[in-house]
Amino acid sequence: MPADFDTIVNLSKKRGFVFQASEIYGGLRSAYDYGPLGVELLRNVKEQWWRSMVRMRDDIVGLDSAILQSPEVWVASGHVASFSDPLVECRECNARHRVDKLKDSNKCPTCGNSGTFTEPKEFNLMFKTHMGPVESEENKVYLRPETAQGIFTNFENVRRTARMKLPFGIAQIGKSFRNEITPGQFVFRTREFEQMEMQYFCYPDTADRYFDEWVEARDAWYMDLGMTPENLRHAPHGADELAHYAAAAIDVEYRFPWGWDELEGIHNRTDFDLNAHMEHSGEDLTYFNQEANERLVPYVVETAAGATRTTFAFLIDAYTEEEVNGESRVVLKLDPRLAPVKVAVLPLSKKPDLVATTNKVADSLRDRWQIEVDVTQSIGRRYRRQDEIGTPYCVTVDFESLEDHQVTVRDRDTMAQDRIAIDNLASYLEDKLPL
Ligand code: GAP
Repeated sequence: MPADFDTIVNLSKKRGFVFQASEIYGGLRSAYDYGPLGVELLRNVKEQWWRSMVRMRDDIVGLDSAILQSPEVWVASGHVASFSDPLVECRECNARHRVDKLKDSNKCPTCGNSGTFTEPKEFNLMFKTHMGPVESEENKVYLRPETAQGIFTNFENVRRTARMKLPFGIAQIGKSFRNEITPGQFVFRTREFEQMEMQYFCYPDTADRYFDEWVEARDAWYMDLGMTPENLRHAPHGADELAHYAAAAIDVEYRFPWGWDELEGIHNRTDFDLNAHMEHSGEDLTYFNQEANERLVPYVVETAAGATRTTFAFLIDAYTEEEVNGESRVVLKLDPRLAPVKVAVLPLSKKPDLVATTNKVADSLRDRWQIEVDVTQSIGRRYRRQDEIGTPYCVTVDFESLEDHQVTVRDRDTMAQDRIAIDNLASYLEDKLPL
């Protein structure tokens, strides 16, 4: 059974994963701040993605392109002309809706009236601002709606400077902005969000093969990090649904509390983007195949995931309620690589010598892992709190520790306890807390 939506939202707020942006001013709709635990979880998700895409491979390199690009980029990519959703307004209550998301195209879901919609208008989703002090049409720039275009425009820079040969990929993590008509479901669809995108440039006749390989590789990434396989599925786009630039596309979907919804898009984007940028910029973005002695425009297989959306899905997937000795406990069964806090160090009581040893133990682990020291409340309650935020290991310093220089290590999932010498603690944990 998927976790209940409100429960996850409440846990996120209560424990400091996610806060409403500008909360003290009543909140800004669809904007969220990541609190102390949320920022760790989000960073860990991005770190795992970067590790699998860039660090562990020699055919993919990283990039961090600017959010603000020349407006020409968005003309070339097609976003100025067609990155829009059809919008209707209800004449009765003034609510605005995306036509393609309405259950009944004639009935307003806000006020329930029928036949009150205006004619659909295309609404461009790009945020606009001005560069420099003059707010003129010539100074208009857009906040990027995807990170991908910064990769296409840097294709030749990266190929030349990193001396890459086909096939090779460019990976990027960063903020994107879309003026969504109907943001919602907490951090699932927001107007400011983070993406993790990778463009794999390859010979045209190999693109189908790489498309299949990337679908498999991305599935494996989610499952390796503990996502429940039954909560993942593929939704291939039919020929009539394909974006104008795509020869093949699959959405990786997750079973969210409200139903199946997109987590990531994998596309064979053909040579559409490089051709478009060549045409609009006049620059040569072809690739020279030395063996065949010919120039060609590479095809691109794209994997485009949302970092914030994926983080939310991992949080939902990890949420577990279980009965232990007649009591219920909440556990976030996050993979240790994603857990915001890796080890909590807890003195059995607030006695100064126990707290001093606790701090020493915590300091000895801090350069490797995110550590939390908690001295308040009963040990049982502190274990429950750590379970609820997904901390894989709790280390308890008790009165005996002062004599035998050993501590108790409690496993979050099994709740089994091991007595370990303080001197061996780091190496004991090293095996259990991989990078
Ligand atoms: N370059 C291709 C591209 O951007 P997309 O399907 O529009 O493709 C990729 O976006 C991923 O970015 C989505 O699968 C989703 O995870 C994330 N994403 C898109 N819009 C989002 C939004 N408004 N809020 C949060 N995440 C979003």
